[in-house]
Amino acid sequence: MRIVVGVGGGIAAYKACSLVRKFTETGHDVRVIPTESALQFVGKATFEALSGNPVNTGVFADVPEVPHVRLGQEADLVVIAPATADLMARAAMGRADDLLTATLLTARCPVLFAPAMHTEMWLHPATVANVRTLRSHGAIVAEPASGRLTGADTGPGRLPEAEEIFALASLLLERADAIPRDLEGRRVVVSAGGTREPLDPVRFLGNRSSGKQGYALARLAAQRGAHVTLVAGNTVGLDTPAAVDLVQVTTAEQMRVAVDKHAAGADAVIMAAAVADFRPVHVAAAKIKKGAGEPNSIELIKTDDILSGLVQARRDGRLGAAAIVGFAAETGDENGDVLTYARAKLKRKGCDLLIVNAVGEGRAFEVDHNDGWLLGADGTEQALDHGSKALLASRVLDALGPLLR
Ligand SMILES: Cc1cc2nc3c(=O)[nH]c(=O)nc-3n(C[C@H](O)[C@H](O)[C@H](O)COP(=O)(O)O)c2cc1C
Repeated sequence: MRIVVGVGGGIAAYKACSLVRKFTETGHDVRVIPTESALQFVGKATFEALSGNPVNTGVFADVPEVPHVRLGQEADLVVIAPATADLMARAAMGRADDLLTATLLTARCPVLFAPAMHTEMWLHPATVANVRTLRSHGAIVAEPASGRLTGADTGPGRLPEAEEIFALASLLLERADAIPRDLEGRRVVVSAGGTREPLDPVRFLGNRSSGKQGYALARLAAQRGAHVTLVAGNTVGLDTPAAVDLVQVTTAEQMRVAVDKHAAGADAVIMAAAVADFRPVHVAAAKIKKGAGEPNSIELIKTDDILSGLVQARRDGRLGAAAIVGFAAETGDENGDVLTYARAKLKRKGCDLLIVNAVGEGRAFEVDHNDGWLLGADGTEQALDHGSKALLASRVLDALGPLLR
C-alpha cells in the first residue's frame, strides 16, 4: 500500500522514524512529508534513508511531477505523527501552504492525525475546535496518551508509541471505517489477560491468554470516544493503550472486585479476560518443598463467575450497564461443535453478546490474529472473519452501538 507519513514540528518527531520503519518493514511504499519545522528535529536524510524515497517540504520541488496533488491522490493512507497544534489548525482551515497541507487537501483515503503537544495546547478551545472540524471533515484524530511531556510536566498530549499508531493505521488499511466517534461520552470497562492463582510464593495456576484481544478492544473503544477502564491481569508485556485507565490485578478474585467496582456507572462491560474457573483451596505461605510430605494433588475450589455475576446484578437492578459482553474460548468435541457449546454458554450466562473463538492449533491465544462468531442474545449470529485482533475489536464495538442507544 502507499502510505504518506506527515511529520509536524514537535519534539516527538523522532518517533516518526520508528513508525516509518514499521511501515517499510511490513512492505508498504512510504513517502515522508515533513513540515519545515519538523526538519528542525529530524534531518531529511533520516527520512529519505528510512523510506527509500525522496523527501521535500514545499510545493516547488519536482514541479513537473506535481507532487502537491499526486502524493495525496495516490495514497491509500495518510498518517500525521506528530500532528502539532499549528499543523492541525492549518489543516482545519484547508490551507495548502506546504507540501503536507496540500497533500491533505487532495487525499481521499483515510487520514489519521496523531496529535502531540503540551496539555494546555491540547485543551485550548482553539485546538478543541480544530480537532472537531477535522473530525467533521472525516479525518481520524487519535486521542493522545497521557504521561511525561517535554520537560517535567505530565498530562494528556503525549504522542502514543509508534506501535500504537501503527496498530491504528493498520486497522484503517484493513477497514477504513473502523474508528468512528460513536462511543463519545460512554463509559466502557474492558477486562483483559489471564489471571494467576497462587499455590505458594513461587508457583501459580495460570492460562495462555496474552491480553492482546482485550487491549485491542480497550484501545479502539478509547479511540472511538469512550472513557475506558481496562482491568488487566497477566499479559505478554503490552503497553497501556493511549487514553485508557489501567487497573492491574492478578487473581480472579481481584479481577472480580475491580470489574464490579468499575462496572458501576458503566454503559458497557466487555469481559475479554481469561479468568480462572478454579483456584487452589490452600495457598502455602512458604515454597512447597520436594521430598517427604510433598503433595500429590492440588485441591481446587470454584472461583466466582464474574460475567454471570454482572448479569445477575443487572437483573437485581444493582447494575445499569446496557451491554454486557462475554468472550468464550471453545473447542469442539464428539458431543458438539464450537458453536453448539457457544450457544449453550450464551444462554447460561445471560449476557447480551458472546464472542466465540475456536482455540487450539495456534489459534486465538498469544497470536495477533483472531476469528470466530458473534452471538447476540436476540438470536443473531455473525461470523467474524479472520483478521487482526483490532479488526475483531471493531466488529464487537459495532455491535455495541444498537445496545447502547
Ligand atoms: C523544542 C520545541 C518543541 C515543540 N514541540 C511541539 C509539540 O510537541 N507540539 C506542538 O504542537 N508544537 C510544538 N512546538 C511548536 C512548533 O514547532 C511550532 O508551532 C511550529 O510552528 C509547528 O510547525 P508545523 O506544524 O508546521 O510543523 C515545539 C517547538 C519547539 C521549539
